[in-house]
Amino acid sequence: MDYFSNAYFLLIGFVLLSSTVVMPYSVSLSLLAICFSVLYYFKEKKSTIKDKVVIITGCDSGFGNQLARLLDSKGAIVFAGCLDEKSKGALDLKMHCTENLRVVKLNITLDEDVINLCKIIESFLIKSSKELWALVNNAGLNFLGEVEWTPLQLFEKVLNVNMYGTIRMSKAFLPFLRKSQGRLINVTSVKGRLSYPANGPYTMSKHAITTFTDQLRMELKPFNVKVILAEPGNFGGSTGMLLNNERERELEIMWESSSDDVKETYGKEYIFHYLKAIKNSIPTANKDLNLVSMDILKALTAVHPYVRYTTGGSCFFYDYDKLLMNVSPYLPTVLIDYLMTKYCYAGFPNPIKALKIR
Ligand SMILES: *[C@@H]1O[C@H](CO)[C@@H](O)[C@H](O)[C@H]1NC(C)=O
Ligand SMILES: *[C@@H]1O[C@H](CO)[C@@H](O)[C@H](O)[C@H]1NC(C)=O
Repeated sequence: MDYFSNAYFLLIGFVLLSSTVVMPYSVSLSLLAICFSVLYYFKEKKSTIKDKVVIITGCDSGFGNQLARLLDSKGAIVFAGCLDEKSKGALDLKMHCTENLRVVKLNITLDEDVINLCKIIESFLIKSSKELWALVNNAGLNFLGEVEWTPLQLFEKVLNVNMYGTIRMSKAFLPFLRKSQGRLINVTSVKGRLSYPANGPYTMSKHAITTFTDQLRMELKPFNVKVILAEPGNFGGSTGMLLNNERERELEIMWESSSDDVKETYGKEYIFHYLKAIKNSIPTANKDLNLVSMDILKALTAVHPYVRYTTGGSCFFYDYDKLLMNVSPYLPTVLIDYLMTKYCYAGFPNPIKALKIR
């Protein structure tokens, strides 16, 4: 957890700065040290995940797969939802994890899959006389494409999984969590609080999840269910989200289905440059997905968890995406737009009929 992006740090820093007006630095600094120790103790106080029942969606690859292994190694009872039970990730989980981990087929866009999992969970809880401790909504699709040449069906496809799928899962399992006073954790992204060009449906779905989580946190407070957001930074290139051939197929679909006007305006070179951009972005991602799993583990075990766990990714010294997300509310939008455009369109050709150079 980094204290720089949370409000407590700012608050304590502010009090310290103001207090130097009325008392010596040594006193202010000692007070600061005490405040931090108390905060640290309070926030780091942990319970255990051992023997607790956790559902994770999207365990075929990426964060879900990593998290399932980590929780299994800590003795949790994991129901790992996999889109395809025969996927490499699902088979790996079956092979390497203990019998406390169960792989279940789960397509979060299908009512029948979610109802089926509900039944499995219900009978397991009755048999073992346990409670459901947490649901980790992790499953999601990424997507690249500009609004003008992205067909509506592709918006629907992404929102169906990332947004409606998460809502479907949350609604199905809330009754269990209310009973256990457990935790609902949504994995979004820095893209849930920062807008990216050419990432429309994905960024929209993550923003939707951010605000749904905020609402739900307030709605569930009376039931003592903690609703937490996990916001990974630049890990996308390592999750398999960007790598798969789907991106190429989608760009083909988008190009084929575009009107002549769009084709003439943007040009094939411009649209297919996105493939190159994806390839170039993959090496910039942090390879250690475990950093995110460790933060989610903290969210699951902290006695007083934070509302958000933002995990810096990137292979560089600091995660640019996370930095921008943290500072963007305080900067003029024109500046953020400029920085994002420079960052996202680096090396891009201009659309053929563009009136300005970016
Ligand atoms: C998941 O369900 C959707 C229908 O909502 C379907 O289009 C998609 O192919 C399914 N995915 C898999 C991998 O079965
Ligand atoms: C997660 O996000 C979905 C919307 O995408 C929302 O319906 C659900 O309540 C959220 N759950 C939590 C725990 O934030």
